[in-house]
Amino acid sequence: MAHSHSKPRSKRPASTPEETAVLREDSQMDFAAAQAPEPRAALGVHRSDAAFRPIIFQRDESVIHLGNVRDLYARWAAPTVIVSDGAYGLGSFPGDPHTIDGLAEWYRPHIEAWTRHALPETTLWFWNSELGWATVHPLLVEAGWEFRNCHVWDKGIAHIAGNANTKTLRKFPVVTEVCVQYAKRTSFEQGGVRMSMKDWLRYEWIRAGLPLWKTNDACGVKNAATRKYFTADHLWYFPPPDAFDALARYANAHGKPAGRPYFSRDGKRPMTGAEWSRMRAKFKCDAGITNVWNEPAVRGIERLKEKGQCIHMNQKPLRLLEMILRASSEEGDVVWEPFGGLCSATIAAHKLRRRALAAECVAEFFNIAIKRLDNYDIF
Ligand SMILES: C[S@@+](CC[C@H](N)C(=O)[O-])C[C@H]1O[C@@H](n2cnc3c(N)ncnc32)[C@H](O)[C@@H]1O
Repeated sequence: MAHSHSKPRSKRPASTPEETAVLREDSQMDFAAAQAPEPRAALGVHRSDAAFRPIIFQRDESVIHLGNVRDLYARWAAPTVIVSDGAYGLGSFPGDPHTIDGLAEWYRPHIEAWTRHALPETTLWFWNSELGWATVHPLLVEAGWEFRNCHVWDKGIAHIAGNANTKTLRKFPVVTEVCVQYAKRTSFEQGGVRMSMKDWLRYEWIRAGLPLWKTNDACGVKNAATRKYFTADHLWYFPPPDAFDALARYANAHGKPAGRPYFSRDGKRPMTGAEWSRMRAKFKCDAGITNVWNEPAVRGIERLKEKGQCIHMNQKPLRLLEMILRASSEEGDVVWEPFGGLCSATIAAHKLRRRALAAECVAEFFNIAIKRLDNYDIF
């Protein structure tokens, strides 16, 4: 499919040799003829054989795959962001269970894969209903994901258009969904013991045989290092890269020679400030944003329709997706959209010059999503 009509953007090679091979092999395919297996069958069969070649569509560095995302996780470059908008337990797309029973099991293999492939800098944005999220949350925590914030998407009173049958429903009308932010729990190992980042910093300094007050000397501050970076209480601050560099330099110059290197991940050399800064999820909050997002459900030209009917019940607003991607990633970062649908997160990622990797297992949705990625910015 040609892109001569769209904004020119240089092509960059795919990040892994496996991925490059996949892209090359499939780049000649006829997208209009893409055929997906039956969705349910596709979800049940997990292909791990080496000969497996997914059907893909690529624009610049963003790729949409047709198929079961479980076949793809291991082939994808590691993500800085994962945008999950999967099953709700509402029967809203083929394969979505009709109740929340079984929702945790539906997500289990995906959560395992996310945990396996995520980096310390990865943020997971988990979209769902309140009850769907509550059902899956324990599994996420068990797998090593740390809760950061629950964002409430308030679609406003217009969403029910005065149609709520509250006498029958016996509850107030629901006009919300949630988008819950998680970061991968980072742990450090020292002497066979796993510990948190905060404990590791203190452990390393003490292991160097230095008194804690000397951390202030190392950072050239009056008492900010002991008060913020080396406190044992909940008011702990992550030392910025330059402070980390200064601490590591000081400990390695003045600490007991026998224990060197200090502040090292590999036991060979101290970490640099730049490496340290990648040990937590990226986050930047633009002014005026809170955890309540007032945004109508997608409508107007953004809402994709066929014969007047919405094509996908779960289409998410691009404005919200752009907001979360801006907050948790930078240009060039990899964004996973494992449950693509119409691939709204991929459109937002492409627009913001991130590298999206998306999957959709239903051919009808895939075909619309690839056309959308191909021409969303043509006016
Ligand atoms: C809730 S919708 C996503 C809607 C999307 N956020 C948007 O704005 O268009 C979930 C989609 O994930 C797809 N899906 C579910 N399980 C999948 C799997 N294992 N691999 C690939 N796609 C899957 C479904 O077919 C469905 O279209």
